[in-house]
Amino acid sequence: MLKIQGGHPLEGHVHISGAKNSALAIMAAALLCSGDCRIRNIPSLADIKRMSDVLMSVGVSLSHHEDCLDINAGSIRQSAPPYELVSKLRASFFVIGPLLARLGVARVPLPGGCAIGARPVNLHVRGLQAMGASVHIEHGTVNAYVAGSGKRLKGAKICLDYPSVGATETLMMAATLAEGETILENAAQEPEVVDLAGFCRAMGARIRGAGTKTIVISGVPNLHSVDYGIIPDRVEVGTFLVASAITGSELSLAPVIPDHLTAALSKLRAIGTEMRMESPNRMRVIPSRVRKACDIETLPFPGFPTDMQAQFMALLTLAEGSSVITETVFENRLRHVAELNRMGADIRVKGNIAVVQGVPKLSGAPVVATDLRASAALVVAGLAADGTTTIQGLHHLDRGYDDLEGKLTKIGAKVTRCSDDSVVVPASEARASSKTPSPVSAE
Ligand code: EPZ
Repeated sequence: MLKIQGGHPLEGHVHISGAKNSALAIMAAALLCSGDCRIRNIPSLADIKRMSDVLMSVGVSLSHHEDCLDINAGSIRQSAPPYELVSKLRASFFVIGPLLARLGVARVPLPGGCAIGARPVNLHVRGLQAMGASVHIEHGTVNAYVAGSGKRLKGAKICLDYPSVGATETLMMAATLAEGETILENAAQEPEVVDLAGFCRAMGARIRGAGTKTIVISGVPNLHSVDYGIIPDRVEVGTFLVASAITGSELSLAPVIPDHLTAALSKLRAIGTEMRMESPNRMRVIPSRVRKACDIETLPFPGFPTDMQAQFMALLTLAEGSSVITETVFENRLRHVAELNRMGADIRVKGNIAVVQGVPKLSGAPVVATDLRASAALVVAGLAADGTTTIQGLHHLDRGYDDLEGKLTKIGAKVTRCSDDSVVVPASEARASSKTPSPVSAE
């Protein structure tokens, strides 16, 4: 459990860790290479540990020291990571493209749904089938193999129904070793997709157009060793920008790549917060006393990122006026509303729309995190609330934030992590949790 004493101003500098959603995809891409891959600026997160376990389960040798991962997938044989590992991390599904491209076969359990939505993988599957893979799903596992002697996927022209980040990444990885050219239309343009393309190109892949809606990949026979540093986490930047705005505190953050969060910066300026670059990668944020309401609609990049929706909602609960927040990317990503309302917010939800009526203040309360970014929203709300907020469900937070409470404490927040045995857990839940550790079906 996290205990936060609200109302303390923050001050100082925050170091931003490497991007979780880059690291997870790039770790899977290391399977494409039969040589040594060194990946730098890896954040220290539960999800990274889980992805490492998945890679080792298919025969990868992997060593992790500080923020550096050394991976060698030269001798992978096993094409089926076990369910108990894949069920703990949805991003494990990213291994299907590289395994298929390297071995001509992959048997990967279907990632279940999670707190924020059903999260189907139909676009991944359809794209792999277009590249010549035979795919059938049974007993909860996606069985994919490349028929014929060559065992190589074939380049194809694929138009995605939706600019899915995961599907774009799976298909881009699979295409690097396919025969011929693959064109991905309506591709995702997120910075993490561009980072993954950068990693693959550093291994010798031929990819152009990453970051636009059309990505063209020309297959090559194999990829070579690489030493690559990943981008900073734009969602962590957004979270600390909100922490600064919601507490009225000036902060500096680095490293920051402003082009990775243009929509979020534009919304913060509309709310009244000013940001300026002090050096090529160091951002200073100067909040205003008055916070103005503004409407937000989450969209694929370069639209407003769904991963910052919960944190911005927390900020808008204290804005003057009414803000309409529309979540268009995931079907169930407004579960933080109930918890924010317990802290005195005035938010009404209808379908995928939340109407946030600004209130003068929030009050600390015991709350429960339901998913990764909801937990971040509750933390920033707790920083501004009067009194003490206790947050349960920290396994969500630990998946996606590298030492958040350490970074917050360093800039003056009163945050402590304590055991939550003091908290009353309903008997039914206590019994259930004492029996079997529930697999965390992580977002
Ligand atoms: C990635 O998830 C991120 N995760 C998510 O971050 C992020 O919220 C999301 O992209 C959107 O930006 C990682 O990169 C590990 P999608 P992903 O495929 O790839 C539907 C966080 O908090 N869809 O772009 O799963 C899907 O259901 C996490 O760090 C299909 O219908 O996102 C969703 O509604 C949460 N069929 C929408 O597309 C498919 O085959 C966007 O999903 C694939 C997706």
